[in-house]
This record gives sequence, structure tokens and C-alpha cells, in this order.
Amino acid sequence: AINYTILEDEVEASQHVAGLFASMINRKPQCVLGLATGGTPVKVYSNLCRRFLAGEVAFEQVTTFNLDEYVGLPPGHEQSYRSFMNEQLFRHVDVPLEQTHFPDAGRLVINDGVVDSESANSIAADYEALIERTGGIDLQLLGIGTNGHIAFNEPGSTIDSMTRLVGLTESTIAANARFFEDASDVPRQAFTMGIATILRARKIVLMATGESKAEAVASAINGAVTSDNPASFLQTHSDTLFVLDKAAASAI
Ligand code: GLP
Repeated sequence: AINYTILEDEVEASQHVAGLFASMINRKPQCVLGLATGGTPVKVYSNLCRRFLAGEVAFEQVTTFNLDEYVGLPPGHEQSYRSFMNEQLFRHVDVPLEQTHFPDAGRLVINDGVVDSESANSIAADYEALIERTGGIDLQLLGIGTNGHIAFNEPGSTIDSMTRLVGLTESTIAANARFFEDASDVPRQAFTMGIATILRARKIVLMATGESKAEAVASAINGAVTSDNPASFLQTHSDTLFVLDKAAASAI
């Protein structure tokens, strides 16, 4: 069963999650963190920045792996997940950027609009190998999509899926359009860690806030374990904690 904790609101949930990450780093300064993008973790990262400035935590020896990266954005595009993480966390703390990793989506070869699958496979395999080489992820942060997606593992993703190139569903494109000028600017593809990649993390913390996540959260915790609802696969992991605000917990 998935453990969960319900906090008053987004601010309290964010403080709680940041506290879990700070404790992990203080317990194991060379830890490997899995990080997530999206609106949900923004206050987690600002809280970690505050803790760094207060001298409560240092990131010098930390290695990070982000869950996913869009395909097709020009280098340095402000909505790339690399830029997002630089802005929200990395440039405010002491982590050397070479210790922060993303699937290397910029290496993807596309000929006349057709993806070269060999290059896609090699980008994905390199990411998996890099995670392995660092000893694996100690603590993985996740958000959840309203359709139950985790990272960019949309419904249909299998429990044995690894890092790979995926297409985004229309609902995810629509949900992420708020970060772009126009919905047509949202990338249609991304590299994402797979379900199996995520389940290999020693500890997983999924954070969700707001009414819009209530159904997805409830069926991840209580629903059938199925590809139709990728977050339900977290039920098979032995150390997963959901950190929720009251609204996101309201359908459990
Ligand atoms: C995005 C990301 C996920 C994220 C989810 C929810 O598409 N790829 O990693 O957890 O959707 O995003 P938000 O936190 O903005 O609701």
C-alpha cells in the first residue's frame, strides 16, 4: 500500500517535501536525487534554496537526474526542463552543473521530420547507463498528471518501460500549454524515464496539490494496478510516500 500524508495546503506540503530532500542530503551528502518539473515542485525548490542560503543544506556533492526533457526546443529555450531547473534551483545553490543530468534530447537526429530511432535509442540507453553508474537514485521526486501520468509515462506505459522517446497525449499538451505562448508551441515528444526506471529509485516521494489532482491521486492509491493509470504502478514499490494537500487528498 502507498503511504500518504496530508498537509494543510501547498506551502506546507512543499515545506514537508523540501525537508525530506534536505534530510536525505544531510544524511548522505553524495546522494543521487531524481527531480521533477511542472508547477507542483516550484515551491519545493524555492524552499530548498532558502535552506541552502540559511546554511542548512549543501548540494556540492549531490548528483541529480531529471525525469524527462522535451524534444525539439532550441538549446536554452526557457521552457526546456534544463532551463526550468537552472532557474528554479541549480543556479541558486552550490551544485556543479556537470553533476545535473537530463536525457540529452538535443542529440536526437531528425531527418525530414522523421526521427532516427537509432539516435533515440542511444540517448535513452546512455541515460539509463549514467544512472546505473552513479549507483542509482536514492530519492525520487514525482508529480502526477490529471490522467495519472508520472514523468511523461502516459496511460499505456508498461511496468517494465525504461527511458525512451514518447509522444505526449493531447490532455498533457493542453495542461502544459500554460507555460507556452500558444498550445501549438508545446513539444509533441519528450524523453522520459520509464516506469521501471522510476521504480528502481530506493525512495519515492510523489507530491500533488489542488482539486484537479484528487481523482488521479485516489486511483493511484486505491485503484487497480494497470497501464491505464501509470501512477498505480507505485503500489508495487516498497517505499513510496504521497505528500498531499487537503484538496488533492479529497477523493481518497
Ligand atoms: C508534466 C510533467 C510531469 C509532471 C506533471 C504534472 O507534464 N512531465 O513530470 O508531474 O506533468 O505537472 P504539474 O505539476 O504542473 O501539474
